[in-house]
Amino acid sequence: MTHSPAVRVTIDLGSDTATRPTAAMLAAMTTAPVGDEQLGEDPTTAALEARVADLLGKEAALFLPSGTMCNQIALVLHTRPGDEVICADSAHVYGSEGAGVAVLGGALVRPIACARGIFGPDQLSAAVRRPKMRSPRSRLVVMEQTANRGGGAVWPLATIAAVAARAREHGLAVHMDGARLLNACVASGIAARDYARPFDTAWVDFSKGLGCPVGAVLAGPRDFIQDAWVWKHRLGGALRQSGVLAAACLHALDHHVERLAEDHENARIFAARAAAIPGVRIDPPEVETNIVFLDLAASGVDAATVSARLRQAGIRIMIEGPTRMRAVTHLDVSRAGVEKAADALAHAVELGAG
Ligand SMILES: Cc1ncc(COP(=O)(O)O)c(C=O)c1O
Repeated sequence: MTHSPAVRVTIDLGSDTATRPTAAMLAAMTTAPVGDEQLGEDPTTAALEARVADLLGKEAALFLPSGTMCNQIALVLHTRPGDEVICADSAHVYGSEGAGVAVLGGALVRPIACARGIFGPDQLSAAVRRPKMRSPRSRLVVMEQTANRGGGAVWPLATIAAVAARAREHGLAVHMDGARLLNACVASGIAARDYARPFDTAWVDFSKGLGCPVGAVLAGPRDFIQDAWVWKHRLGGALRQSGVLAAACLHALDHHVERLAEDHENARIFAARAAAIPGVRIDPPEVETNIVFLDLAASGVDAATVSARLRQAGIRIMIEGPTRMRAVTHLDVSRAGVEKAADALAHAVELGAG
């Protein structure tokens, strides 16, 4: 990986993973009661797992170092080698997890081409294979709430219910990648357990909008979570005094959930200003949560040029394609920050191809 020696980034819209722990979060971490997690003796981790199991309405939950590990453990347990996982073509499990589904589980992915990372029951049915000796066995459907590369789109509850019901008719298991589930909850007013109900397994990430340095929690049936423990250990994810990390997550559940509304508001403010720049298009135009995709095609400037100019101003917006960029709001970017970033973007685009 290369790091450009540009000016220090002061407004980081590259991802909502860019947050630093707050002073109050650090205080919670340093005072947490801890023990050896592998021996089941860390009380703070146990409290977090119980809290997330309740939040998602599941029997049990397991603290893991990352969302990727939640997805990979769930996928490997839901499938057998040669099975097929169905998800949106923009899904993180398909394009952004080092092909773990194939490497760890020996499974295939059947991606569904869909707008905004959301598909319906008929698209699911079209992707399910008829049982044949020579075909992969369709086994699992994954829905991503919110859909990251769908521009932070929120899966409507009715669509989730319809897709999950159809999945059951086909005999498939159903898994939620809930990296930004709580953003969906705050945007829609729908409880996490209502979104999670149709799923066998679901997880939430703490290192994104919730502002923690590390951590995600996978929830599901008790026996599934017991099996997940074996994989956690196998992958090197079993920890020792993990309560230091779990305390940050508990703090975030208490203090960083409702405030996600501010991130959504800042994303809308940024998007409105960016959309007013000649040649810049917001894609899709409706910003539902904290993610904004920009399309610069009509401006004649490419994303790499704009990104380099923004970096000189201490601003990071992620390059997503030749003329596509992604901005993500979070705890460490204020309203003034997004306004400044939008002004800098206007300047970077107005300079032209140079
Ligand atoms: C939708 C989605 N799923 C999973 C992940 C993986 O989470 P982590 O970075 O905690 O491994 C991400 C991270 O960006 C994501 O956006």
